Amino acid sequence: MKHTYILAIESSCDETSVAIIKDGREEIATVVLSQMDTHACFGGVVPEVASRMHIENITMVLEECLKKANMTMEEMDAIAITYGPGLIGSLLIGLEAAKTLAYLYQKPLVPVHHIAGHIYANNLVKPLEFPLIALVVSGGHTDIIYMKEDYSFERLGGTLDDAVGEAYDKVARVLGLSYPGGPVVDKLASEGEDTYSLPLPLDDDSYNFSFSGIKSAVINLVHNEKQRGNEINTANLACSFQNRVVEILTKKTMRALKEYGVKHLIIAGGVAANKGLRTCFKDLCEENDVELIVPAMKYCTDNAAMIGAAGYFAYKLGRRATLDLNSKANDDLK
Ligand code: KG4
Ligand code: ZN
Repeated sequence: MKHTYILAIESSCDETSVAIIKDGREEIATVVLSQMDTHACFGGVVPEVASRMHIENITMVLEECLKKANMTMEEMDAIAITYGPGLIGSLLIGLEAAKTLAYLYQKPLVPVHHIAGHIYANNLVKPLEFPLIALVVSGGHTDIIYMKEDYSFERLGGTLDDAVGEAYDKVARVLGLSYPGGPVVDKLASEGEDTYSLPLPLDDDSYNFSFSGIKSAVINLVHNEKQRGNEINTANLACSFQNRVVEILTKKTMRALKEYGVKHLIIAGGVAANKGLRTCFKDLCEENDVELIVPAMKYCTDNAAMIGAAGYFAYKLGRRATLDLNSKANDDLK
């Protein structure tokens, strides 16, 4: 049987990454160069710095990936590229690299939506089974998606304001914790107790979310306590915040599974690394006879392996881009 090799490039935020994926399932090689340490001192990603670092690193990351795989560009069947959504300057660097390679080696160029990548990171764990519900939780997205088959995405609901990862990062900042805040708040939460009274965010009948209210509640609480000269128990506040967030995410997702009669759940995106969320879903899925797939930790945050996995299915479906493909800061998942 002839195998399909996809060379994938991801540069939508602050990770420069190239991967080679075989048949949409097998990771041959992945290289991820994270700029996190550089951006950490600014307390968040600085777009201009990110694009400049992508320019400096992209060729090196590509060469390293090919070397690691012991393969050549000639052996690739197609080049998959994250065209959006993301930081426009960052996206453009990966896109130009992909277009140059496609032109030079005469390979098909396959456009991949960043969130399709996060979803298909789970295909590297186990082949996806349909119908399924995907909960996408990242720094830019919080969506519940129904998939009846490969590459069919029906959005049931999503955040009306802040994405969940964004709320984690802002809460971490007000607590004086380092960037990115999600992993730090997650760790602290496991060491604390749920003692602070915080609202359950947007507890209604929709599949939408809203995290700006709980974020503001944490910020106000911290400021009020400081004014009164009271100490904040950071671990307890992290635990209370995380419990509310996990409760609403799991509650709405489990309702969607029931309403749509779906027995397969996948979690995707950076916040899928959250231990509280993973544990809670594990228990609920066991109770409700739902099969849960979570990405390996290294595939939760941005990487090109997930773009290669999604890119394989896009390639098989005949999705192609010409060399006038442009990056998009925003675009619906389709
Ligand atoms: O998917 P991702 O790498 O980038 C986007 O596409 O947005 O997600 C990054 C986000 C950040 O907001 C980060 O704080 C959050 O994922 N994150 C976490 C955890 N690990 C990363 N949030 C909560 N708990 C974690 N363990
Ligand atoms: Zn992402």
